[in-house]
Amino acid sequence: MKDILTLGIESSCDETSVAVVKNGREVLSNVINSQIKIHEKFGGVVPEIASRNHIEAISSVTKKALEEAKISFDDIDNIACTYGPGLVGALLVGVSYAKGLSYALQKPLTGTNHIEGHIAANYITHKELKPPFLCLIISGGHTHLVHIKDYDKFEILGKTRDDAIGEAFDKVARVIGLGYPGGPKVDKLAKEGKPTIELPKTHMEGLDFSFSGVKTAIINLHHKNPDINKADLCASFEKYVTDILLENTLRASEQLGIKTIALAGGVSANSYIRENFLKLQERGYQIYYPTPILCTDNAAMIASAGYYRYIAGVTSQLDLNAVPNLKIS
Ligand code: KG4
Ligand code: ZN
Repeated sequence: MKDILTLGIESSCDETSVAVVKNGREVLSNVINSQIKIHEKFGGVVPEIASRNHIEAISSVTKKALEEAKISFDDIDNIACTYGPGLVGALLVGVSYAKGLSYALQKPLTGTNHIEGHIAANYITHKELKPPFLCLIISGGHTHLVHIKDYDKFEILGKTRDDAIGEAFDKVARVIGLGYPGGPKVDKLAKEGKPTIELPKTHMEGLDFSFSGVKTAIINLHHKNPDINKADLCASFEKYVTDILLENTLRASEQLGIKTIALAGGVSANSYIRENFLKLQERGYQIYYPTPILCTDNAAMIASAGYYRYIAGVTSQLDLNAVPNLKIS
């Protein structure tokens, strides 16, 4: 069978990324231009600044992605771009660019869901992974527990009712003065602490999550006692969220009789969460997670998800628009 080369384009938040992926699984290039340094001084992503930086970066990032893959535009079979969810102005840059390329090169366009991209990051890291499996997508914008029935069939089993888990990590880090982005900083400091601080548990119905209560509890604890041991606070917060993630995932696994579990999204780079999910292997579970570079936003995962849409016959027309609150199909 002929190889299929997908050009992936990602611009939903603060990373401008373009990648070339062969047959949905083999990364030929994955160029990521991060704006973290630009947004750091504002303590979070400023949407308009993100859009402006995507516009500046996208052409040179694409050129580099083709050079690294050692191919030309002619070699591409299809173009996959993130069209949601994300920041509308940021998404529009990638969508418009992809549409321009598709029209000029006369190549098929595949609008791709960013969350499905995070799931597909596991296909790149684990060549043997195939649906069905359970996927826990934990990122700065999303907390979803999803049943992956097939490459293009998903059922959301649970999601956050308030803050995304990554938002909670970032907020906790900001409050205790660790800076932005907070996830990796909390991860590092927690290693020096012990989970000795009791945090109030929020009870949720079904398989949904809630992280605003624990976030507020940590803010209050820190305000009441600014000398509180920050490492212990980080370790306690990590234990709290990991217990909830494990509890819901294991319940879903039992309900569906599926013991293959994949983690995805920026927060799945967290070492405490990984360690504790990996322990499930001793109990007969198969645990997967992407390599760290594929956990956070990147275009290789979009090219992989786009490839599976493309071979399923799903392509987009040139009226494709950005959909900031796009749901998993
Ligand atoms: O997947 P991602 O790059 O963007 C979204 O689609 O949202 O995730 C970014 C989030 C941020 O909240 C960041 O703090 C968090 O992932 N993150 C981490 C770690 N590395 C990144 N959270 C906890 N521990 C980490 N090691
Ligand atoms: Zn993401």
